[in-house]
Amino acid sequence: MTIRSVMSMKMMITGDVHGRFEVLRDLIKKEKPRMVIVAGDFGFFPRVKGFSLDRMNDLDIPIYWCDGNHEDFLSLKEITPIYGSKPVSIKENIYYCPRGSTLSIGSQKILFAGGAFSIDKDIRTPMWDWFSCETLDESILSLKSNWEGITTVVSHTCPTFCKIEEQIFNLCPLPDPTRGVLDQVFDIAKPREWFFGHWHESYTVEYEACVFHGLSMIHHYYDMSYIVKDLS
Ligand SMILES: [Fe+2]
Repeated sequence: MTIRSVMSMKMMITGDVHGRFEVLRDLIKKEKPRMVIVAGDFGFFPRVKGFSLDRMNDLDIPIYWCDGNHEDFLSLKEITPIYGSKPVSIKENIYYCPRGSTLSIGSQKILFAGGAFSIDKDIRTPMWDWFSCETLDESILSLKSNWEGITTVVSHTCPTFCKIEEQIFNLCPLPDPTRGVLDQVFDIAKPREWFFGHWHESYTVEYEACVFHGLSMIHHYYDMSYIVKDLS
């Protein structure tokens, strides 16, 4: 997917939404971006009573989201495969970005690589709020012919060389196969910038000329949960 016009285009990239669409809506009204990207855990649970994206209707800007480990993959897969080459419209102005898909905006080419392991999966219900396909696998690498010229990656968790669990939480590395696959994505795509959520913490590190931005969960009063980039 290509967006050519970037006149005064502000792009907002956020951490986890977890279905708090009213907070996302308020942040959009405050920052007035021309487009939004969510780095997973959008909170797509259409089988849950009361779930609605209607409250985003009047914003009139596109929202692109990759999957995290808190989405209803059963419902999502009824709409689209979770690996694919381009964003898929699931509602007016709301686009799901499959694992391996790309979005070109002016000089930026963004690669999406959603998915992550749930440490709390034992207290969740399979096929309702937990799904075995939550982790990223090497299927994404079959899409690499589309990745020439990638400038930016948006994923839910981060590669193994981002030592966030040791540096922020003082934990040993957690068993998530997603992160080894993201290492391979990094080696192939060679982006300059990378955004991720999942850890609910703000975190920045540079690795091999790429700046990694970890974003907190969105909050009305905590602006470390998003970054606004001016693409003009
Ligand atoms: Fe997550």
